[in-house]
Amino acid sequence: MSHELRAVHWTGTGLALIDQTLLPHRTETMHVQDVDTLVDAIQRLVVRGAPAIGAAGAYGVALALLQGEREDWTDGEILRAISRIREARPTAVNLMVGVDRVAARLPEGLEAVLEEAAAVQREDVEGNRAMGAYGADWLLEQVGVERPLRILTHCNTGALATAGWGTALGVVRELHARGRLEVVYADETRPLLQGSRLTAWELVQEGIPHYVQADGAAAGTILRGEVDAAIVGADRIAANGDTANKVGTVGVALACADAGIPFLVAAPTTTVDLATKTGDDIHIELRGEAEVLEWGGVRAAPAESRGHNPAFDVTPGRLVTGLVTERGVLEVASGQLPADYLK
Ligand code: MRU
Repeated sequence: MSHELRAVHWTGTGLALIDQTLLPHRTETMHVQDVDTLVDAIQRLVVRGAPAIGAAGAYGVALALLQGEREDWTDGEILRAISRIREARPTAVNLMVGVDRVAARLPEGLEAVLEEAAAVQREDVEGNRAMGAYGADWLLEQVGVERPLRILTHCNTGALATAGWGTALGVVRELHARGRLEVVYADETRPLLQGSRLTAWELVQEGIPHYVQADGAAAGTILRGEVDAAIVGADRIAANGDTANKVGTVGVALACADAGIPFLVAAPTTTVDLATKTGDDIHIELRGEAEVLEWGGVRAAPAESRGHNPAFDVTPGRLVTGLVTERGVLEVASGQLPADYLK
């Protein structure tokens, strides 16, 4: 069952990561014992999803400490290695939050570092469970129908993308557990197919009815009235509610606004970054051209074409009907998050 799935697992001597580049055809675990391999795994999306890379980064601090002991690194070398993990991907703030929280315990030694990393992981799973219940309650009230709901989602926000259970997909799982879910429309999520490869795989494990659809189908499905609400995750939420998430999300939000249906963002408070004022200040990762110019490793576009490959986009806060975190639902469409939101 995927609720026991652990994308990130500390073995006692290193990290075990489910290699998400191989799913759904192969389920293999990659064992990581050194910082170079971890940075590469985060950049290649062996481990991906904001909370999951937050947990991997948190344990990465322990990995750097252990490698430093083995290879006789100076304190400066250990800190530089930790910075490389922190900067492996720029958009999801959870990576920086996870690394910084654990690195603060470095002076206390390995045991304290591991204790803190385990807390990052545990709190994420607990938070996901809470947000699943809050999000399901809110959606059922907002949509206000007796029949089960038809939900659209984009990218993968399940157990694979988190420390366990899932954010937006956690809400979906909760609706399903309550017998209030008819079907999920899972956007395939070009160009790396997190929707068709990962979300659909998780939905199959859970026995949840779903369609995989091309990203380009989402707006039409919404405007035809085939969807009651969309739920997505987030990589960074600015102080004004602007939300960075997988590229393609803003189109879903625009269609929901036009159709007058709820667009719910589900994310732990570790994704909320009040130091970032608006979405304009969010660093959007630009990935390699080959990911959009090739199809399954084979060149699809003319040799002369250049590729444009932003991994994320920013949905303006005004289009976010609700933000569900482990604390409950905040209706952000009107503007700023409360200045003391994270207190
Ligand atoms: O590039 P990815 O696969 O790491 O992007 C993931 C997303 O955009 C998710 O929607 C987001 O991180 C939330 S995961 C709970």
